[in-house]
Parts: sequence; structure tokens; C-alpha cells
Amino acid sequence: MKRILILGGTGDAANLAASVSNLQNIEVITSLAGRTGQPAMPQGTTRVGGFGGTSGLAVYLREHQIDALIDATHPFAAQISWNASVAAHETGIPHLMLIRPAWEKSPKDLWIEVDSVEAAATNLPVLAKRVFLTIGRQQLAPFALLQGIWFLMRSIEPPASDLVVPNGEILVNRGPFSIQVEERLIQDYKIDAIVSKNSGGDATYAKIIAAQTLGIPIVMVQRPAMPLGDTVGDIENAMIWLMQTLF
Ligand SMILES: NC(=O)c1ccc[n+]([C@@H]2O[C@H](COP(=O)([O-])OP(=O)(O)OC[C@H]3O[C@@H](n4cnc5c(N)ncnc54)[C@H](OP(=O)(O)O)[C@@H]3O)[C@@H](O)[C@H]2O)c1
Repeated sequence: MKRILILGGTGDAANLAASVSNLQNIEVITSLAGRTGQPAMPQGTTRVGGFGGTSGLAVYLREHQIDALIDATHPFAAQISWNASVAAHETGIPHLMLIRPAWEKSPKDLWIEVDSVEAAATNLPVLAKRVFLTIGRQQLAPFALLQGIWFLMRSIEPPASDLVVPNGEILVNRGPFSIQVEERLIQDYKIDAIVSKNSGGDATYAKIIAAQTLGIPIVMVQRPAMPLGDTVGDIENAMIWLMQTLF
């Protein structure tokens, strides 16, 4: 029996857990950070909560006799990815990163590419008065400092009550979203710019197409640096890596 730990919190991680669960003689454990109150539970075993940094993760890998570690966290969850890389190196456990490809800018896109959420906030005053913020609920604070801008903020769960929230309206909703829905939102709320992370994938790409069609600029936050190491862009290749690594 082999045991796999998937670092999760994404649709890709849940789909990977489902594929691995179909294999004989492999137990799959998915780890969730515990940020979401009612997460979609992946197939197999689930554990929830931080490990206690790199050393805590290394202890977990040893104690649970993990045979392979697959980091399928969100491309913007950089801390856990660096921790995973270091812990895998320390313990000698095979380690893979499943990172879906970033969206690529097309000639039709009006993107202002920035390195951080904070940089996105500093770009807005010269750009827009009514902004669609699609970066989740954890990093809203930099936008609360901006005077004279109204925000439509979409997230899977509402921001915690102790967080600073910018002026505007909160929309609680989970993707995937259709192009029609995104166009309606942009038009009904008279949105004149969007802020997005370059998350990649299909589930939230409709807003990019809607912005193209309506000629709306997107302040696009680029991905953080990730560790070097074995990397694949989809579940099919993650499964190939797993079979080659374990058998
Ligand atoms: N950042 C985003 O935009 C985004 C978007 C969608 C989903 N998510 C998901 O939400 C989770 C948290 O994201 P984040 O950006 O806050 O992460 P992060 O900044 O990279 O990680 C912060 C800390 O949270 C804990 N952690 C993160 N992911 C974990 C996991 N899968 N299992 C156990 N502990 C985890 C770790 O705590 P310890 O040091 O104590 O181990 C880590 O050091 C991730 O699982 C990610 O896949 C993030």
C-alpha cells in the first residue's frame, strides 16, 4: 500500500484526488488549509489546518509514511508551496507541483500587468471609479485606502467580520461563471475596470472574455515565484508522474 499526500484547496486537487482514488493499493490524503467554512470534500481522506511551517510538514510526512507529495494548491498560495518543496527535500520524499498554466494575454485584452495585489491598488485611481474585485476576500485591505472608488467584491465566502472591507458591495458566489453572467454584472454595476489574479483555468476565464467584448481593462496580478522542481500543468500528467514515481 502506498500513501499520497495532496496539498489541496483547488478544483484541480479535488479532481486529482478522485483520479488517484480509483487506483488500486494507493491511499490518498488531501490536506486543506481550513480557510473555507464548508469546503467541497475531495474523495479519499481529508485533513484540515496548517502543519506548523516547513518543519511541521516534514514531521507529518515522516509520521504518516507518505510515499509521494503532490502540491496542487492555488498558483497564488506561495508559502505552502515553498514549505512543501523544502520539507520534501529534507525528507527525501518525491514531490510534484501541479500548476495550471497561466492565462496568456491576447491582442484583444486590455491588461495592466502588476506584481502584487498592492500594486494593483496603486494603479486604480487613474483608471476607474467602479471596480470589479475578483481576488477573493483575504487581500481586500489595500483597496480600502482608496477614496472615490466603488468596489463590487466577489468571493466564495463573505470576508471575516474583523477584516477591513473597501466601500462597495460584496457578492458571495462560487464559479464557474458564464460569459453572459459576467457581461451582465459588468453592465448592471457600470464597472469600468476589473482586478484579477492570473489564476489560469477555465472556471473564472469568462470574465476575461466579457472584458474583451466590452472593452474593459483588467489589472492582472502576476503569479508569485514558485520553487524549482518537478512540475506538470494537468491531472493527466500528474497521474503519469505518480505511476512512474511509485511503481
Ligand atoms: N491564494 C489564493 O488566491 C487562493 C485561491 C484559491 C484557493 N486557495 C487555497 O487556499 C489555501 C490557502 O491559500 P493561501 O494563499 O492562504 O496559502 P499560503 O499563503 O501559501 O499558506 C499560508 C499557510 O496556510 C497553510 N496552508 C496553506 N495551504 C494549505 C493546505 N493545502 N493544507 C494545509 N495547510 C495549508 C500553511 O500553514 P502552516 O505553515 O502552518 O503549514 C501555510 O504556511 C490553499 O490551500 C490554496 O490552495 C488560495
